[in-house]
Amino acid sequence: MDIGTLPGVFDILPKAKDLWRSSYLWQYVEAVCRKLAHDYALSEIRTPLIERADLFCRAVGEETDIVAKEMYVFQDRGGREIALRPEGTVSVMRALIENNEFTPIQTMRYFYIGPMFRYDRPQAGRYRQHHQFGVEIVGIEAPEQDAEAIAMMMQLFSRLGLPHLTAHINSLGNATSRANFREALLKYLEAHIGSMSEDSQRRFVRNPLRILDSKDPHDQEIVAKAPSILDYLSHEDGAHFERVKEMLSALGIPYHVSPLLVRGLDYYQKTVFEVTSGKLGAQNSLGGGGRYDGLLQQLGGPELPLFGFGTGLERIIQVLIREGLAEKISPPELTLVIVPMDEKARGKALSFAEELRRRSVRCLVDYTGKRIKNAVAAAADAGACWLLVLGERELETGVGALKFLADGAQTEVSLDQVDVLVHRLLSRHGEKEAVQ
Ligand code: HAM
Repeated sequence: MDIGTLPGVFDILPKAKDLWRSSYLWQYVEAVCRKLAHDYALSEIRTPLIERADLFCRAVGEETDIVAKEMYVFQDRGGREIALRPEGTVSVMRALIENNEFTPIQTMRYFYIGPMFRYDRPQAGRYRQHHQFGVEIVGIEAPEQDAEAIAMMMQLFSRLGLPHLTAHINSLGNATSRANFREALLKYLEAHIGSMSEDSQRRFVRNPLRILDSKDPHDQEIVAKAPSILDYLSHEDGAHFERVKEMLSALGIPYHVSPLLVRGLDYYQKTVFEVTSGKLGAQNSLGGGGRYDGLLQQLGGPELPLFGFGTGLERIIQVLIREGLAEKISPPELTLVIVPMDEKARGKALSFAEELRRRSVRCLVDYTGKRIKNAVAAAADAGACWLLVLGERELETGVGALKFLADGAQTEVSLDQVDVLVHRLLSRHGEKEAVQ
């Protein structure tokens, strides 16, 4: 019987062989995301991982790869069509409508961190369960909001220390400009479509804009000479886009206008953007998003402008490693291991450890009954800073020998003066590295 993980999904372990699957790195990145969300006055929203499949079909788009090819859909025991969420935006919109979360507008700024599911061909950087830090901002039409959200994603990467990133930006205009562009694009592609990839031929009929996004080299050659969507923007959408660019320049954010950037979800309007990394190979998008005015209304909610983005945590962590930045992030250190010598000492060790934990000392008791030598080796292996042996003598005298594992130096400590001991444990903490 095969009970292994399914293809394209993975475990996150305290310290994994593939370093990117180590939980301390995830905790670090998530903490940076949460702090960023705090500073940008966003509030956390958590929605279920399962939704009615129809929700995504309607809102992400029946013709998108995400819905047509990649969605996990099943019937529950009640006969409902269920989807594992492939992305977060649509669920957030559903939640806002269902909970009537609509005032006041200026505080409708949300973030989420969690898993998304896409049945895609697994490869480096592309998983069937991936995790996103996502942001959704409701009710603001101003182009400055677009620039602020792009700046937010760039600030996330800069806080993480990721260098040399450029935002690729484009405008898809409103529905009318897109319809005009679609016509021009179809006209141009007509002469070439016979020689293009199967995917593009299928999209030609159903969703021609997505052809611009083709990864096929021959398709790309043809698409490079296609009309530009930017020439079809309405005056108003053009002015909106100009202002976004102006603001990005004013903020010193490097950007590149990429008229071929269309994104893989149908709900976008006007500004779209993506940040890619040269360190990621084929799956190079670290994050992307854009304006999606109209989505709430499409789902039966009020007509409010919307802007958001999502970033992939797997890819962020992989870039941190490739840039050599992960080495600077350490798992939380084990401050103290207490080694009791017999049953009586085990009881004392337990209560003593509880006392230390009340004072936030990260410690554990080695209950395994190992010989001291082996217990010292195990504690050193676990990366512990200090070790305290408790035996008959220590219990009788109330004095113990605290061993600093990095150099083996021992200091006598009074077990009754817990505050003094805690001070000692925490103050020499940083010296371990210096000794090594
Ligand atoms: P998305 O571009 O589909 O946008 O996904 C956002 C990010 O999630 C990508 O840039 C990538 O880093 C990561 N990602 C996506 N699929 C995978 C995968 N199979 N494996 C690993 N990482 C992946 C959205 O999902 C939109 N909801 C973003 C948004 C929010 N737009 C407006 N608001």
